[in-house]
Amino acid sequence: MNAPHDTKSRPGAFRLYGPQFQTSPAELYRQMRAQYGPVAPVLLEGDVPAWLVIGYRELHHVLSHPEVFARSSRRWNAWDLIPENWPLRPMVMRTPTVLFAEGEEHRRRAGAISDALAGADQHEVRQYATQAADRLIDGFCTASKADLRASYAARLPAVVLGRLYGLDQERADVLAEAMTTMVDGGPDAVRAQQFLLKTMGELVAARRRRPGNDVVSRMINHPAALRDEELIPDLVVVLGGGHQPTTEWLGNTLRLMLTDDRFAASLTGARRSVREALTEVLWEDTPTQNYLGRYAARDVELGGQLIRTGDLLLLGLAGANSDPRINSGPDAQGWGNQAYLSFSHGEHRCPYPAQELAEIIVTAGVEVLLDRLPDVELAVGADELRWRPSPWMRGLVALPVVFTPVPPLGGQ
Ligand code: HEM
Repeated sequence: MNAPHDTKSRPGAFRLYGPQFQTSPAELYRQMRAQYGPVAPVLLEGDVPAWLVIGYRELHHVLSHPEVFARSSRRWNAWDLIPENWPLRPMVMRTPTVLFAEGEEHRRRAGAISDALAGADQHEVRQYATQAADRLIDGFCTASKADLRASYAARLPAVVLGRLYGLDQERADVLAEAMTTMVDGGPDAVRAQQFLLKTMGELVAARRRRPGNDVVSRMINHPAALRDEELIPDLVVVLGGGHQPTTEWLGNTLRLMLTDDRFAASLTGARRSVREALTEVLWEDTPTQNYLGRYAARDVELGGQLIRTGDLLLLGLAGANSDPRINSGPDAQGWGNQAYLSFSHGEHRCPYPAQELAEIIVTAGVEVLLDRLPDVELAVGADELRWRPSPWMRGLVALPVVFTPVPPLGGQ
């Protein structure tokens, strides 16, 4: 498959883009590990150099030492290689978001996000998620087939997050589409990001005038006293950073349950294994397979490589989860073990209340679907399912299913 690449700048580096992500990135990570060990030189689009950290211990070390592996892209030593229209620019752009904040400023902003999300009543979130799932299923349940990714998994998280922001379903759908475009990093990525910033600006102005019981108002009224230039980009981060991985978590869990005999019991009523499926996906097909990134604050040795000041390190979350030094598969340790790095680790990790919200949304998404369409099954062979070509997110292009039509519930 993807043979290591020779370039002048970095002989032997692996290209971190291209069709191999549509087939088996796990194989690619195995090849990298065999050739380089836990820290592999890679090339991003346009042959921009970076390091991919795929060793579990090494990644844990990087995430635990923000003073050495820092978050702000102002430290990057490759800015002069980056064209204005570089497709990954939204991931590195120095917008003043919580993602690039460091130290005390990061604690203040991440604290406000965490508190605003924690302020959502979990019982209510479960209700929102269940109602939204029912409403989405109403949209296709009278037909005998559907694409569960497009019509369900790619909409449910945005609708629930939109509801937590106080938005209606239609506006949440528009945002969901823009977020997918931005995260996929294609030619429209920059435009999508600008659209999201503009929409959030309008929402903040509206909530400042008339606060409500929602995440946006809680962030506005938080003691951190965030200014609009902090609030607006951070609201995009929460929405975009929440929607996309939760979509893939739901889609990948449904795929697992529809393709793997071990979960067939759940499809006929037993719910015992929904949670196991959720956890197994985080180990095996984690939604954020790679994440960009950290920047070396000084020259440092890591996993046998010399990392130079300002070098970009990518978090190889999927690679680290499958590090044979810690992961010997489900038979040895069971999938109940939650030591995966899927939500990252350390001070920039996915906030705990966000992780809980995501789990509520995905669990409701699976359970409601199985309740409503108990005989749902794949419309194609498991090996015909295609993965999206993104090296960042691990998710399906489509999840086509067939089922016996049922009447809509309506009225919610
Ligand atoms: C309700 C859904 C979610 C919300 C609102 C959310 C929100 C966030 C926020 C605000 C951050 C930035 C944290 C910071 O820089 O301080 C973040 C980071 C992150 N989230 Fe989530 N998230 C959600 C779901 C998920 C899911 C399902 C996954 C994957 C399974 C995930 C994986 C990550 C990762 C890998 C990071 C990067 C952390 C780092 O830089 O080390 N998130 N999330």
